[in-house]
This record gives sequence, structure tokens and C-alpha cells, in this order.
Amino acid sequence: MTLTIVGSQLGDEGKGALVDRWGGDADVVVRYQGGDNAGHTVVEGGAEYKLSLVPSGAVRGTVGILGNGCVVNPRTLFTEIDDLRERGLDPDVRVARRAHVIMPYHRVLDGIEEEVKADDDAGDEVGTTGRGIGPTYEDKAGRRGVRVADLLAPDVLREKLEYAVPQKRALVEDVYGLDLTDDDRAEAFDVDALHEEFTRIGERLADEEMTVNCSDYLYRRREAGDRILFEGAQGTHIDIDHGNYPFVTSSNPTAGGAVVGSGVGVTTVGDGEVVGIVKAYLSRVGSGPLPTELDGDAEEEALADEIREKGGEFGTVTGRPRRIGWLDLPMLRHAARVSGFTGVAVNHVDVLAGLDELKVCTGYELDGEEIDTVPTTTERWERCEPVFETLDTWDEFDSAAVAEDGYDALPEAARGYLEFVADEIDTPVYAVGVGPDREETVELTNPFDE
Ligand code: IMP
Repeated sequence: MTLTIVGSQLGDEGKGALVDRWGGDADVVVRYQGGDNAGHTVVEGGAEYKLSLVPSGAVRGTVGILGNGCVVNPRTLFTEIDDLRERGLDPDVRVARRAHVIMPYHRVLDGIEEEVKADDDAGDEVGTTGRGIGPTYEDKAGRRGVRVADLLAPDVLREKLEYAVPQKRALVEDVYGLDLTDDDRAEAFDVDALHEEFTRIGERLADEEMTVNCSDYLYRRREAGDRILFEGAQGTHIDIDHGNYPFVTSSNPTAGGAVVGSGVGVTTVGDGEVVGIVKAYLSRVGSGPLPTELDGDAEEEALADEIREKGGEFGTVTGRPRRIGWLDLPMLRHAARVSGFTGVAVNHVDVLAGLDELKVCTGYELDGEEIDTVPTTTERWERCEPVFETLDTWDEFDSAAVAEDGYDALPEAARGYLEFVADEIDTPVYAVGVGPDREETVELTNPFDE
């Protein structure tokens, strides 16, 4: 049995809380794409854990795998593991030998490329997290990447670095015109220094028996009857294929990514449950359209500020304030179709309590026509005018009491909101998040029981 958890919007839907909750019923939790651009905040018994690479389930002692579809920054990985150990946890994290490694030069290049785009005033910078994600996937597709397995073989690693690094240096110096002399970024392009550091990283990975053949490992675990949870990072609308290109990340957060990014069969994921995580409103870090954004006038901006503060809408990885908008159903319809959701979990329902007005976007108007899904191009999406439906608001409620008493204890208008959304996207609600702690979730269906 597998459960795949996918972000339905633009990332930051609160996937961590659900992965952590349902991860307790899983034997293995697998991340299948992305890297340390993801930010999961897991709150457990009042303690807060901020993770960007270690799968959230690790906080609960479940085996966490970084699948072959991930890009792994080993410095981040070891820092997170060491921090968790210092806090008394003993995370069991394995890394696919086919996963690609984020090298220091990838991070430098991510920064330079964004700076260059920002300087030309065309507004085409993506607003990346600066973690080197795009440049690492570029090298993967360009067949010049360094894989985790290469860190275990110093000779192979040297060969790969000697091929790739001079190209990167030339890119920085000859294409971007930067002089690396006396620049502290130069170290990222020093083959010997890189070889030494990453060979040591390989030794630690080997000593701690952290690397796996992911496909084979998961096959054996499934044969043994174990339950697998696939943890998507980011969200559908920043998927490189199905998202808002070019304002996307460089991987596939949608459910198909779980198959390719871990080496399990498509029928395995398809036989299981696929749950979309939805935030009850929208937030976006970085550039790109957001048709329902609350930024029209001072009143809307004040409302966005209120939601941002209440919902803690500041980037986990970058600390950037997130842009805020009303829930957008065309975006959810697209997400439900692309990943084939069997259910959704709607988070942050508590954040919307006590508002004077509550709107949901049910469709868009574009060139005089009404459409119910997201256009394929950024240019068309940008021109969409949202069509809103105003729904009843609800008062503040006691999240802990609601979590304990169950769905019927939610205010009637909140249930009306959830049922409206479920109906519009033709997908049942499996869980409702009413607060940040794992306990503050109303569960209607545990997907592992389905
Ligand atoms: P990158 O993944 O760092 O290359 O960034 C590409 C785009 O994805 C930017 O708009 C980022 O803000 C966005 N992004 C990447 N990771 C996350 C995430 O975990 N949550 C929300 N947005 C993200």
C-alpha cells in the first residue's frame, strides 16, 4: 500500500504536518524530487523542527529516503541530521545512489543567474530559493551531473569534476563576465578542494550505511508488506511540466514524479492513495501570476497582512514574506486532474476564522470567455480576471477542542466552505488542519485505512 502526498498549489500548503501524521502509519517515507529548497515545519509536542531535506517522517522515527529524483546537498543533509541528533532524535535517513548532488558551484550559479536576470529589468527572475536546484537538474539533464554513487568512488568523482568544473568556471568568467580572483566564490570552482570535501562526504555516507539502490530497496520493503509514503515537496503549480513555467522549480512535485523519482512502478503508486494538500487560501513565494492576490487596495493589503501574520506566511527556507490570495478553484481542478487525487486535506482553516469577508475564485474571465482551469501560458494566466463567489464567514474557534471532538465541531460555515470545495473539485476531504500542531488536525479518513 502506498500513499502519495502532493502539494496542490504553490508549495507551503502544510504538507509536513500530514506527512508527519500519516507517516506514523508508514514504514518508509520517501521524498521523490527537489532538494533543500523545500521547507517543512513539523511541530511535535510543542517542539518545532524546521527541515528542508530530511523527510518529515524522520521526526517520528520512520525510515526516510531521498529518492533518485531528488537533488541532495550533503552539507545540508548532515547539518540537519546532526541537529536532530543533538535534540535527542535518531533519524534514519537513506539516500538513493542515483540521486544527483548539489555541488557548491550549483549554488553559486543559481545566485549569479538570478542576479543577471534581475539586472536586465525584464522581470524574468524566478525568485529561486538560491539553493542550486535548477543548475543541478540542468547538469542531470545535460549528463554532466555528479551522483551520490560517485561520492563513493574517488577516482570517478575526480573524473567528473575535471570534466564539469572548468565548464562552470568558463560560464561564470566568459559568459557572465565575473572575475573570480579574490572572490570567496572561487573555492566552489576548485577541483582539488571539491574533491577532498566530497570524498570525505562519501566516506561518511558509506560509514553510516546511508546509500541505497532506491528502486530495489523499495521493492523489497513492499514485498515484505511494508507501507510506503511518498512525500512530494513544493506544489503542482511550480511543477516544471504542469506548473506556471518559467516561474517553476526544476522537478515534478506532481504524483507522476513519485514513480520516476523513486523507481517504483506506475501501477504501485496508482493502486494506492494520492492526497492533495490544499491551503484554505493561497500563498506564493517568488515571482509569477497570482490572480486572486490580495493587493488591489489598502484594505486588501491589510487583509493580506492579517492572514500572513496569523498563518505565519514567511518562507521556511528564505524567511521571505509570502504573497497572499483567496483560494483559487481553477488551480485546484488542474492539480486534482494532473495527480489523480483520491482525497484532499485542507489546511489553515483556523487562519480564515474571524474574517469580515470570505471569497473563493470559481473560474476566470479571459478575453470575454469564462474558463474553469488554468491557462497553459503565464502570459494568458496573468490576464485572467478571477470570478469570485462570496461564502459565509465563521468565528474564531478552539482548535484543540475541534480537533478532539471531530468534524461536526467545526463551525457550520467552515464545513460549508470545505464541502463547497470538495464538490467543485469532485474529491472528498480526508482531513482538515485547524492549527499548526500535528494534533490539531481533524481526520475524516486515514488514507492507509482505505
Ligand atoms: P528553486 O526551486 O529554488 O529553483 O525555485 C524555483 C521557484 O520555486 C521559486 O519561485 C521558489 O520560490 C519556488 N519554490 C521552491 N521551493 C519551494 C517551496 O518549498 N515552497 C514554495 N515555493 C518554493
